[in-house]
Amino acid sequence: MTMTLAQLLAPMSVEQFFAEHHDKSPLHLKGDAGKFAAVLSWRQINRLLDMTHAWSSHSLQMVLDGKPIPPEQYCIRATGRDANTQLMQPVSARVREWVAKGASIVMNDVDSLTPGLASVSSAIEGAGLGKAQANVYISWQSHKAFHAHYDTHEVWAVQVEGEKYWNIWEGRAEWPISHPVFRSQTQEQHEQAKGKLRAKILMKPGDLLYLPRGWYHDALAEAPASVHVAYGAHAPNGMDLMTILAERALYEVSFRQALPRQDGTSAARFALTQRAGQLGLRIAELCKDPKVMEVLERFVADYRFQRGGNDLMAWRGLAPPSVDTEDSSGDASTFRIVAGGAKPVRRGAEWVLKTPSGTLSLTPAEAEAAQWLLARPDITEAELQKAHPQAGAPALLAKLRDAALLVAT
Ligand SMILES: [Fe+2]
Repeated sequence: MTMTLAQLLAPMSVEQFFAEHHDKSPLHLKGDAGKFAAVLSWRQINRLLDMTHAWSSHSLQMVLDGKPIPPEQYCIRATGRDANTQLMQPVSARVREWVAKGASIVMNDVDSLTPGLASVSSAIEGAGLGKAQANVYISWQSHKAFHAHYDTHEVWAVQVEGEKYWNIWEGRAEWPISHPVFRSQTQEQHEQAKGKLRAKILMKPGDLLYLPRGWYHDALAEAPASVHVAYGAHAPNGMDLMTILAERALYEVSFRQALPRQDGTSAARFALTQRAGQLGLRIAELCKDPKVMEVLERFVADYRFQRGGNDLMAWRGLAPPSVDTEDSSGDASTFRIVAGGAKPVRRGAEWVLKTPSGTLSLTPAEAEAAQWLLARPDITEAELQKAHPQAGAPALLAKLRDAALLVAT
């Protein structure tokens, strides 16, 4: 499943977004209920949570009315998946008790866990907007999970289930970054800095909310249950250039030499000022060095997470490459092909397929589609429909399933 920035923003054009909103002002874009249906569903949430050993008190957090629930109150001590590490692991019976009290669940770093979740990340990253990391927020009526705050990255929130009110404040911190300077601010400071209420918006399934970096906001679940996925887009910034320059400066004698010794005299202070000036000039020169610029350009262009891309059977040449479709969300049933080597053959004007229970007759379009799908390890209805629209995917799948050539998983 893939998505582009144009699809994420539709019906607004990408050009209008960059002209009016990107890094400038919040955007609430209404969408039809189906727009993000393939991104995440309750069934998938439960499936993900059931992957018990995949979670820890860091990746799965619980919050009640703005206060994080201590890990020992919803987790047990367990052995992690990596080399005997000990960690706190959420346990469903305790999570359930807290959910009954209205606690919100936050699932962190989920952007590669399903094709649906990954589709929005790749839309953001594909447009050069930085590394897109996603968290899922599940909350219940009138329980506020977080007080007014800003994030140190752009926020792209997509509403997948239920409804949620967001308060968007007038205040904006000036391009904060993830550093203690910004993280150490108190809630009182935030309450002062958030300013007046700019808008109160109701996010419904299919809606998108974009917030520039540093924009003050908070959210409150409205429907009995609300789920949104917040993608944080972390763009490269000037501090990254400083890091590249620091690496480059290692090769310059002038940066390795000791700074002038200070003995309290004005001559010593003058020497230090002179040296700082010289080094500053050298940094300015390095910023024009084509090699430094080449490194910087590559750094910015490649600034995205690596995720996905696996296709084992195809890599071994044992199956054609997997088909990427609009709807391989994982919610649709997948059919495993269990008839190794079965192939439709022509008998006069008819096409037939030998099955364990007898012979199946097929139309020419069905025969072509059957040949295509039987060569694969598994298939969804949507994939078959896309590849062979004439074959009548539901009926053909039912026929092959009845004949025990496929098994629904
Ligand atoms: Fe936030």
